[in-house]
Amino acid sequence: MDFFQLKNGELHAEDVPLSRIAEEVGTPVYVYSRATFERHARVFRDALSGLEQKPHIAFAVKANPNIAVLSLLSREGYGADVVSGGELSRALMAGMPAKDIVFSGVGKTQAELAQGLDEGIGQFNIESSEEGRELAELAHRRGQQAQATLRINPDVDAKTHEKISTGKAENKFGIPLIRAREVFGELAALDGLNLRGVAVHIGSQLLDLEPLETAFAKVGALVRDLRSDGHTITHVDLGGGLGVPYKAGEVPPSPAEYGAMVARATKGWDVHLTFEPGRVIAGNAGVLLTRVVRVKRGGNGPPFTIVDAAMNDLARPAMYGAWHDFDAVVPSGERMTSNIVGPICETGDTFARDRECDAVQSGDLAVFRTAGAYGATMASSYNSRGFVPEVMVDGDQFAVVADRIPAHAIMDAERVPDFLKD
Ligand code: LLP
Repeated sequence: MDFFQLKNGELHAEDVPLSRIAEEVGTPVYVYSRATFERHARVFRDALSGLEQKPHIAFAVKANPNIAVLSLLSREGYGADVVSGGELSRALMAGMPAKDIVFSGVGKTQAELAQGLDEGIGQFNIESSEEGRELAELAHRRGQQAQATLRINPDVDAKTHEKISTGKAENKFGIPLIRAREVFGELAALDGLNLRGVAVHIGSQLLDLEPLETAFAKVGALVRDLRSDGHTITHVDLGGGLGVPYKAGEVPPSPAEYGAMVARATKGWDVHLTFEPGRVIAGNAGVLLTRVVRVKRGGNGPPFTIVDAAMNDLARPAMYGAWHDFDAVVPSGERMTSNIVGPICETGDTFARDRECDAVQSGDLAVFRTAGAYGATMASSYNSRGFVPEVMVDGDQFAVVADRIPAHAIMDAERVPDFLKD
């Protein structure tokens, strides 16, 4: 459920008409709803209230790293799952305590490991024996002990888009289950590490709980094996991945169903559980507000609705063939079928083909829905387009929470070297 609804014939974010934001900030612009973020954060937390121990919820910063968003989630008691030094800095800047931060990722550099140690973060999720040894060495030299889990790769098909599947044997993530006991034993013996558990994350936009349950069962068996090897296991990180509805008829499992499955799967584990949700918190809390540049007719197929947003602003359709609903801000009640495209000079800059949607014409405002996760954060400046601003709405007020970065600001960072000047 979200707070982007029609009121008096116009789409609003909470109590703010989207046309007001377009007038004051310009388009394209990402618009977030504070109430929607808070609702999702609470629903997800409540769904986990039946677990044996109070869980730690670390928002996957990659889904929406805006500092206002992180600070809102921090107020809801959320920590952060980060995958780079930059994300770590953002989480701290947003006021998240270091102890609530989990550092995931297969390619943490020495500098990033050191940054995590300097800040005293709560947990490193180690993805290889090489990384574990490097972290142990760095921590030992500083007289520290890094709190860590070992990420395992359960070889489970998450049944999602191949580019966002992470738990199959051929993916780069985690330690194959078959080697987990050996690697755990090797790393647990190192001085600089307190290897206290395991982590798993099999993929994103999961619409079926079964692969997750299978993966969790494998984790449960591993925890038993590790304990019988003499290790003390106190923490398990179950990752993120719960899907959201992008289009009518797509019904992902509810947070409550997910929570019930987790309670069943982890019964008797006697560990502190961590979760790393991203999309389920942020996805439907944001839209990309855009203006129709013109509708081009006369080709072979349906007309082209050309909007001022493009694949550089919202990459998901071009990158994964993802669906985002396209709705007029002031719907006339008429419908049309068109190809919805951006202005970028490649055919991939297509948001939707042959889409039946609200009829729009030149100058109209429209939104791509469910753009709060993996939207602004995946933007680029391709075609020398700047970065789109982000706005957060709270009731009847709104604030710009990320400025537009115009193309000239990007050009300011470039220069012609002396050797090209003679
Ligand atoms: N934890 C780890 C270790 C992850 O790699 C991810 C997402 C998450 C948590 C959060 O997953 P979520 O709850 O959001 O599904 N750009 C793609 C999604 C990439 C997801 C990468 N990892 C997209 O736009 O669909």
